[in-house]
Amino acid sequence: MTTSAGAPVAQDNQSRTAGARGPVTFDNHYLFEKLAHFNRERIPERVVHARGSAAYGTFTLTKSLSSYTIADFLQNVGHQTDVLLRFSTVGGGQDSSDYARDPRGFALKFYTQQGNWDMVGNNTPVFFLRDGIKFPDFIHSQKKNPRTNLPDPQAIYEFWANNPQSLHQSTILMSDRGIPLSYRHVNGYSSHTLSFWNRDGERYWVKWHFKTNQGIKTLTNEEAARRPAYGAQQDLVESIDKGDFPSWTVKVQIMTQDDARYYYINPFDLTKVWPHKDFPLIEVGQLELNRNVDNFFAENEQAAFAPSNLVPGIGASPDRMLQARLLAYQDAHRYRMGANYNQIPVNAPRCPVHNYQRDGAFAGINPNLAGSGANFYPNNRGNQGAPVAVPEVDEPPMPLEADAWLDVHNNENDDNFTQAGQLFRLMSEDQKNQLASNIAGGLSQATADVQEAMFAQYEQADPDYAARVKAAIAAIE
Ligand code: NDP
Ligand code: HEM
Repeated sequence: MTTSAGAPVAQDNQSRTAGARGPVTFDNHYLFEKLAHFNRERIPERVVHARGSAAYGTFTLTKSLSSYTIADFLQNVGHQTDVLLRFSTVGGGQDSSDYARDPRGFALKFYTQQGNWDMVGNNTPVFFLRDGIKFPDFIHSQKKNPRTNLPDPQAIYEFWANNPQSLHQSTILMSDRGIPLSYRHVNGYSSHTLSFWNRDGERYWVKWHFKTNQGIKTLTNEEAARRPAYGAQQDLVESIDKGDFPSWTVKVQIMTQDDARYYYINPFDLTKVWPHKDFPLIEVGQLELNRNVDNFFAENEQAAFAPSNLVPGIGASPDRMLQARLLAYQDAHRYRMGANYNQIPVNAPRCPVHNYQRDGAFAGINPNLAGSGANFYPNNRGNQGAPVAVPEVDEPPMPLEADAWLDVHNNENDDNFTQAGQLFRLMSEDQKNQLASNIAGGLSQATADVQEAMFAQYEQADPDYAARVKAAIAAIE
């Protein structure tokens, strides 16, 4: 045993005191070191997705995507890439229940040879919003009431009543799929439209789908309430420890730029899916989780996923929500872990890192960023190993609408109902009833104006949807 400065510690059970019954003295610097470090053991939890479980694994490519992208890990069939996958709930704090009715985060870090690509998705193919400017208000309404610190059904539904664009995602959330049995039993989606670009400078729009090989399994509210808060964490750790490795079949939907220009659905609207019949799923790989983290804090709490972690061949898209997210995550990481969060081992790329960023708290874990080499650019020292830019990976131009103009373009009414109705109609009788009853539980506690606004939304999606929710509320009252 040593101090944190490496000096041997003679004993660690007793403080030094002035006499057997006397006080602790100032020369107990080892005691002070121990207590002071303890006071600093926590970092801020994530403002959303605070509760989560992570594990390492492997992505194996089964179909080459070389005609679409130069991404090095998507070229050769059989190529394996190490990954970290963190599942999470969204609204609760770090010690909240794994069984909340909430989307599940599905954040994947691919440690590729050209840097880390993070696919920071959810277990739902869409989201509640189509503009990031609404995100803080949305989250405020879904978290606890600021006065009572209790869940607030009025706020939850009041936000949705005022934002019909949430209807598609809230229909998924309130359906039987709203509470997964475990993290192994969820699909993952990029949800956003991302892009691929190839060596000819052609860009394709892409959505990612990770279909669970364990099958979708879910819980009712009553079943969930009977489970311990940590059940999904336990399930993941124990499955992997006993060699029962969870896996997902990885698929993509691909849209050309021409298709996008003329398609009747805005392909960059995060509240919409691309119907499978128009853009079939193409199977491209297998994802397997096969190693638990060794230290929950180091590898889960300090994990930093960012939609802006892109690699050559994979780009963003004009999706307004994605654009907001490209800015938000690095900022959160600097707040939680400081400027050098990418030097923390779980985040550090598994390929060389060379740039001119220097110093800051905890600098020096990466010797390339702390050595005596050039710390300015441009310079004349390329032949001495100083980093130089790589023009070959310059991303092709992002196409804009021909007549694009900078203004507030109101998209609040961009068909909020069709796909919510399609989802409702593909549900079985039992699923429709569960949906109505799950909604009624919360909506019955909201004011009459909010209820009326929600009924009008359900009506526009499908009259039967509205009728069932009204009947379920009437049954409670
Ligand atoms: P399809 O009939 O081709 O696909 C329906 C999809 O719905 C399947 O992927 C199925 O997933 C999924 N699904 C079934 N029940 C639920 C549920 N309760 N919650 C969430 N997803 C569910 O239809 P379309 O592609 O034309 O889409 C119709 C509707 O299906 C959409 O409006 C959307 O709500 C939903 N959907 C569509 C997806 C897409 O990417 N096109 C993806 C997921 C949902 P599974 O195979 O896992 O059972
Ligand atoms: C986590 C912001 C939308 C998925 C986070 C965090 C922030 C954030 C600040 C915490 C990051 C950290 O501290 O490490 C936002 C904003 C959004 C948005 C501003 C809208 C503009 C979305 C959407 C998805 C998503 C649409 C999914 C499609 C996730 C996931 C995590 C997360 C999975 C947890 C990552 C992890 O496991 O560490 N988000 N988010 N978010 N977000 Fe978002």
